[in-house]
Amino acid sequence: MTSQLFSPFELGSLRLENRIVVSPMCQYSAVDGSATDWHLIHLGNMALSGAALLIIEATAVEPQGRITPGCLGLYSDDNEAALRRVLEAVRGQSDMPIGIQIGHAGRKASSEPPWRGGQLIPADQGGWPPVAPSAVPMYPQEPAPLALDVAGIERIRDAFVASARRAAALGLDALELHCAHGYLLHEFLSPLSNHRDDRYGGSLDNRMRLPLEIFEAVRAVWPADRPLGVRISATDWVEGGWDLEQSVAFVHALKARGCDWIDGSSAGVSPQQKITLGPGYQVPFARQIRAETGITTLAVGLITEPQQAEAIIADGDADLIGLGRGLLWEPRWPWHAAATLGGQVRTAKQYWRSLERRATGVFKNMEFGMR
Ligand SMILES: Cc1cc2nc3c(=O)[nH]c(=O)nc-3n(C[C@H](O)[C@H](O)[C@H](O)COP(=O)(O)O)c2cc1C
Repeated sequence: MTSQLFSPFELGSLRLENRIVVSPMCQYSAVDGSATDWHLIHLGNMALSGAALLIIEATAVEPQGRITPGCLGLYSDDNEAALRRVLEAVRGQSDMPIGIQIGHAGRKASSEPPWRGGQLIPADQGGWPPVAPSAVPMYPQEPAPLALDVAGIERIRDAFVASARRAAALGLDALELHCAHGYLLHEFLSPLSNHRDDRYGGSLDNRMRLPLEIFEAVRAVWPADRPLGVRISATDWVEGGWDLEQSVAFVHALKARGCDWIDGSSAGVSPQQKITLGPGYQVPFARQIRAETGITTLAVGLITEPQQAEAIIADGDADLIGLGRGLLWEPRWPWHAAATLGGQVRTAKQYWRSLERRATGVFKNMEFGMR
């Protein structure tokens, strides 16, 4: 039986070699939003993994939209030039398609990186005032964020468009809008964080309005032949919050506007969340969204075993799987999965000899001989 995980897939007009996607992962290692040598090493490493698509970390559309001062941005010429340097180097050594996730941290902005505790940074220690749909803090002990007025909303919508244009100019192959994990666009979707009484709050249509407006505006400038997807938190895991039913309605609306895939994550908007964690715990969200809307889905979250990943694709739960922590731990996960499942990966010729005595069929592009 041929492996479904290692079968090709058309994501819009982008041809993927297999179904494994490097999930976006913040590195907190940028300077003023600009990529550094760490990004060159990290993205270079991931680009040699044998996955089919690499999605660059959450990248802020304006400086205030960075989660931490070390978050990547795509809001200035310097940011664009720094990312171009990294991409040119990585592309010189790997033909893996590369996408990017753009977003705005909303009330979770101005925070310390996880290795410093993740708490909000006050203004007198280099922080900045976070913005949100409503002046509701994430934790009761935190200062309230500034509620965005319509001018602020328009500024942020324009910032998404400007970043999408920069991503297109960089030749990035795919673009993902971050509407998950309690960041700004998710804050608009969820009734837990959105208490507005204007056209951007209240009913489901109103809460979806800004994310959909931004999607439309980005779709208009992102090249029609390159895929545009959205990462959602399919549920807040809180009674009375955003849930799967609302997600399905949102996905129908996104699909009608030209969305190419949904990346089905969850949680992040409320400390009240009660997550049922376990292997593949978010896969049922991808499955239901795919079944009800017919959109391409990417399942992510505690997918760690080759057979588990194979079953997700073979059973039609999702079209693609995303790996985060598993690839940090073992960047050659796709090679091992290919060896286990009888699949093949494309890899750098310099590494072909790693398998010369073993499963020699694993490297798709191998042409090797020694005298
Ligand atoms: C270090 C790290 C950074 C992350 N940064 C992002 C991010 O930038 N954007 C995002 O949507 N998710 C982010 N995530 C979540 C992952 O993309 C992924 O959805 C999550 O880790 C679950 O998948 P896993 O069990 O394979 O790690 C991050 C996760 C980790 C471990």
